[in-house]
Amino acid sequence: MKRSKGSGSAGANPAGPAEVASAPAVRVLLLVTGGIAAYKAADVVRELRRSGAIVQVAMTSAATQFVAPMTFEALSGRKVALDLLPGVTDGSIDHIRLGRDCEVAAVVPATANFIARLWAGLADDLPSATLLALPQSVPLLLAPAMNGEMWAQPTTQRNLRELAAMHGARLQVVPPVVKELACGEIGQGGLPEPGVIAAAILRHAGRRNAAPA
Ligand SMILES: Cc1cc2nc3c(=O)[nH]c(=O)nc-3n(C[C@H](O)[C@H](O)[C@H](O)COP(=O)(O)O)c2cc1C
Repeated sequence: MKRSKGSGSAGANPAGPAEVASAPAVRVLLLVTGGIAAYKAADVVRELRRSGAIVQVAMTSAATQFVAPMTFEALSGRKVALDLLPGVTDGSIDHIRLGRDCEVAAVVPATANFIARLWAGLADDLPSATLLALPQSVPLLLAPAMNGEMWAQPTTQRNLRELAAMHGARLQVVPPVVKELACGEIGQGGLPEPGVIAAAILRHAGRRNAAPA
């Protein structure tokens, strides 16, 4: 999965190993929402960076209650995007720029609340506005994590089913795994291991320009 960070120059054998090694870094937009698994998103950033990806993190206000933005800033090497307003940096509008600057966007973890807001097309914070402004050519991955009852709720399942129907191959949902959850219950709601999520994000980046259904 290792990719080099530079753009490199064409060698004598364009199809050879040197050319493969100089593949440009994947630009990942990682949106962290406010669930107990938010701390695991930090390890997802580490895995992505180990693979050579450039990672821009944005967080919901609730996510910052679980993990400090400074953690993500240290791991990604970039300022975390937090505020929708005023939201203009060096003359460009943050929630528009973030979607233009990435090759894949991923919500890790995705709360039941955020999934519902995505389904409804809300844009009242930076992560939701960024996804509403995300070009439809950019693949999107959701990694839901929540209490098992929240996951099983007909509303949550309807929201995911309808999002999948709306976005087609552009949207990948990495389903939560069955485990003992933070609430002490055993259920389907746990975030898969960070390496699994990171690998899925990088694979999904290859689906750029997949047409919506
Ligand atoms: C201790 C605690 C843990 C929570 N864990 C989760 C969770 O794992 N998944 C989830 O969907 N919501 C969880 N919630 C509820 C969310 O924090 C809440 O819905 C919040 O509004 C989400 O905001 P956001 O979607 O804007 O990040 C938790 C709440 C608390 C108090």
